[in-house]
Amino acid sequence: MSVPITTPDPAVLSRRIKDLARDRGAVLLAHNYQRAEVQDVADFVGDSLELSRKAAVVEGRVIVFCGVLFMAETAAVLAPEKTVLLPDEGAGCPMADMITAEDMIDWRRQYPGRPAVCYVNTSAAVKAECDICCTSANTDRVVNSLAEPEVLFAPDKNLAAWTQRHTTKRIIAWDGYCHVHQGILPRDVRAARAKHPSAVVWAHPECRPEVLDLADRVLSTGGMVREAGISPASEVIVATECGMLVRLAKDQPEKRFYPVKETALCPNMKKVTLPKIVAALETMTPRVIVPPEIADRARRAIARMIAL
Ligand code: 13P
Ligand code: SF4
Repeated sequence: MSVPITTPDPAVLSRRIKDLARDRGAVLLAHNYQRAEVQDVADFVGDSLELSRKAAVVEGRVIVFCGVLFMAETAAVLAPEKTVLLPDEGAGCPMADMITAEDMIDWRRQYPGRPAVCYVNTSAAVKAECDICCTSANTDRVVNSLAEPEVLFAPDKNLAAWTQRHTTKRIIAWDGYCHVHQGILPRDVRAARAKHPSAVVWAHPECRPEVLDLADRVLSTGGMVREAGISPASEVIVATECGMLVRLAKDQPEKRFYPVKETALCPNMKKVTLPKIVAALETMTPRVIVPPEIADRARRAIARMIAL
């Protein structure tokens, strides 16, 4: 005899999460690319750096980080006294995994005297081997703050190429990329424009240079949220991961946001689900732990960026 399988009701799961979070003294942080129901239950939704900085200042002993591993690690580095939970321990970032700490050490040996800039989309171990961190919102400021005429930049070659347009320094880029943004092609932008002729195009700087050339604005996910609040545009084609549309539509319900491509989805970002958040709060696992000797050095690279 088969037993009927019942799908848990999202409203019931969300209430259970709220109850557990209160009992555990936990705060839920969710990235802009998370599933709609996860964004709805979160206490804060934001870009990768906003969330990590939030982790350091929020009250609560426990952070449930609804995002991917490098973000949860950054939160653990900035809030070492807190317990950081990542509801799916397999939620990684393939771009962050394109460079290891050993790769960075070898690369720096090949280019002595050049400072190393690492995108926030790197492991804490890689950050520990770099001089300064950057996000998609501040690469030009970070690179231009350095005294040397040549800098190493890892892991995103597209973000490096975008930054190169805003500096006279020579950027030596690691050959990494985000498969989600790399999959957005110029023909996708042209097709979306043909379908929505009144819309402007906003693109994330992880997109290919040929795609950025077709965009009206190039913005980080946090930049898109801010721009949506002030832009006179009432229709926008969004060239980034589709979860971004959830956040934008919620913030600006009177405006229309269209995906440049409906298949621009990050499978890792979608690994966090309501049942996994319940399980994480019940069991207080999986926990993200960064060894103190790595955390202390990674924190220096992040703090140097924040100081700018
Ligand atoms: P943001 O830092 O703009 O939130 O982006 C993170 C990310 O993973 C982009 O793919
Ligand atoms: Fe990594 Fe790309 Fe996913 Fe962002 S969207 S977490 S860069 S794979």
